[in-house]
Amino acid sequence: MTTPMHPTARFLAACRREPVDRPPVWIMRQAGRYMETYRALKSRCTFMELCRTPALATEATMMAVDQLDVDAAIVFSDILIPLEPLGLTVDFDEGGPRVTPPIRSREDIARIDVTGATDHLGYVYDAIGSITRALDGRLPLLGFAGSPFTLATYAIEGGTTKNKHAIRRLMYDAPDALHALLGQLAVLVGDYLVAQVRAGCDAVQVFDTWGGLLTPAEWRTFSAPYSSLAMARVRAATTAPIIHYALEASHLVEAMGELPCDALSVDWREPLSTVRARSGGRHALQGNVEPGVMTASHDAIARAVAACVADYGKMPGHIINLGHGITPDANVPAARHFVACAKEYGARLWQTGSVAG
Ligand code: CP3
Repeated sequence: MTTPMHPTARFLAACRREPVDRPPVWIMRQAGRYMETYRALKSRCTFMELCRTPALATEATMMAVDQLDVDAAIVFSDILIPLEPLGLTVDFDEGGPRVTPPIRSREDIARIDVTGATDHLGYVYDAIGSITRALDGRLPLLGFAGSPFTLATYAIEGGTTKNKHAIRRLMYDAPDALHALLGQLAVLVGDYLVAQVRAGCDAVQVFDTWGGLLTPAEWRTFSAPYSSLAMARVRAATTAPIIHYALEASHLVEAMGELPCDALSVDWREPLSTVRARSGGRHALQGNVEPGVMTASHDAIARAVAACVADYGKMPGHIINLGHGITPDANVPAARHFVACAKEYGARLWQTGSVAG
């Protein structure tokens, strides 16, 4: 037996498509309401208070690390946090996030100024410092941000809406104004990610959760250029790998293959082998087990992980994860089993060339 790789070296190697002893595994939204301990923490304060208090954010991040035995930690925060220094109020109530007042008009957009905005997010950088100390070099720490397009969607819609007609309307009637907003958000996202790396993050993930709403031509116009701009700022200032996530975006795989990032995180709608072929094979891939399996039996979880690991195959560049965040109806034993299976099958594949052994 060779000595196992250090988790940080393993994670960075996977992002860079270098050989590993086994693929790393973590779970999107790994600290959340499916955990009893998280619900207990949340009973004492609001979600925003958790995010704003470094000691509490650290407790939430470390909960997932300690209970799941994952190979990476993620900063406890939310993609909507950087909207606050723009003068928007972000609330999380039972119905999901609310952003007030929503940006609706050219005049609203003209008032947005991102200059210095990321300087007002010191509590996030303090949380990163505190989490880094708690991790004590044991695991890599991921920072993250929403993509400019996804942040614009929340700012314009004012929350999670079904049709996203408010941003659609701007795309049709005032594309120049929307482009101006997206240009500002690209600077915000880029600077925010750089600040997270400077505070201690080893890699960063850009969540383009709503990019999948767009046609390939629209995505190439309204999302990709602005995520690319943010990524270029990270590339210019740091060596941290960049992961891009999109949901329901199988129709965008060829276009995502052109992104200037290291890894593409995709949902479960297509096997990773197909995504690799269609995206051009230039990126590591993260994913992509269907999250509902976390509510099913341990046998079903084992089969789903085995299928995912076998489909990617013994090739560098796989980060095992779900295809979207773990949901509140999952449970900790299921998540632990997911992680244990990912480690076992990944190691077996790399040692013997087959998941079946
Ligand atoms: O553990 C982690 O992964 C780190 C923390 C994290 C949260 N949100 C905490 C959170 C991360 C990486 C996110 C990303 C995020 N937030 C995304 C992108 C990923 C995705 O799911 O598509 C999006 C779209 C959001 C916006 C958001 N935040 C929504 C839609 C909601 C409400 C619905 C939901 O799933 O709860 C949130 C709230 C939120 N963010 C919670 C957590 C733990 C639940 C809040 C609570 O405890 O009441």
